[in-house]
Amino acid sequence: MAKPGTTGYLQDFPPPPAGAAQSAKLMREFAARHGAEGRRVVLVTSGGTKVPLESRTVRFLDNFSSGWRGAASAEHFLEAGYAVLFLHRHRSMSPYSRRYATLDWLDTLRLVPAEDFTSRVEAEQCLLPGIVPVLEQYQRVREQGTLLTVDFGTLSDYLHLLRAAAEALSPLGSSAMFYLAAAVSDFYIPASEMPEHKIESSSGPLQITMKMVPKMLSPLVKDWAPNAFVISFKLETDATILVPRARKALETYRHQVVVANVLDTRRSSVVMVTRDCETCLSISEAEAEAGVEIEEKIVKDLKFRHTNFIEQQ
Ligand code: PMT
Repeated sequence: MAKPGTTGYLQDFPPPPAGAAQSAKLMREFAARHGAEGRRVVLVTSGGTKVPLESRTVRFLDNFSSGWRGAASAEHFLEAGYAVLFLHRHRSMSPYSRRYATLDWLDTLRLVPAEDFTSRVEAEQCLLPGIVPVLEQYQRVREQGTLLTVDFGTLSDYLHLLRAAAEALSPLGSSAMFYLAAAVSDFYIPASEMPEHKIESSSGPLQITMKMVPKMLSPLVKDWAPNAFVISFKLETDATILVPRARKALETYRHQVVVANVLDTRRSSVVMVTRDCETCLSISEAEAEAGVEIEEKIVKDLKFRHTNFIEQQ
């Protein structure tokens, strides 16, 4: 359980979203069931966060994250034997369906006349590359109940649900992993300072002052799940400052690994930064053509490190 006072991190934000209590219950049950079966559980956060500029929100600040990293990683964690709690931005990429996210699904279906003069629907398999193994994996995961998805919209929803997820996973100790791939806003407007209604454009150019969002890595590592294996991400657009910034994060929050990536090359290369070393993981052109994903390498690397971490406890 969180120590008294840690709720202070969330006091400037709106209350938890509708359904948060039910999501918290589902997450606790999920973690407890898989923990009892001896399975490791990973929380994968994914997608960007929406930061409202008005209480009755018309406008908001958003970011680029598609959720591909989180969704692809969730699949590879499932293949590696983990149970996955997938906390993702509403309508961002989901495991398995991510591969077909750009399709208009009506184009993939056709009507076939049935004997009773009605019609039935069939899929155009050639428009769904690789669908058979993808569907097999998806259905196996559903049967085994190893994937729980919970979605969020705003920054505030994300923060409340992250805390609830951390409290659900904390009893698992070192066998819980946090894989924080979501692109979380660093800026927000406190609920008490937010205009209620749509900001008038007739008042001229808009000037807003946003406050810094407290880094949730701090209470997560210190209070919410102190024995867990925690991985944060570091995103930069300037490659020269990437590793120093990742090192600074490790020194500040004292967690286990930072996955450092540059915006333009994030699909083909990352640096795994720990207190002792840096390991570059990359995808060659041949591997990319063969469908190998950088997330597969990240997950393999982390599973190995997680095993060592558990053995050292
Ligand atoms: O979704 P894709 O399009 O596939 O892109 C993937 C990605 C680039 C978003 C992903 O690989 C990535 O780098 N995610 C983290 C981006 C980010 O927010 O970096 P940051 O340097 O601003 O934050 C560093 C870490 O602090 C993150 O792990 C974040 O979860 C954490 N954080 C951030 C803000 C906050 N208030 N509290 C936090 O704990």
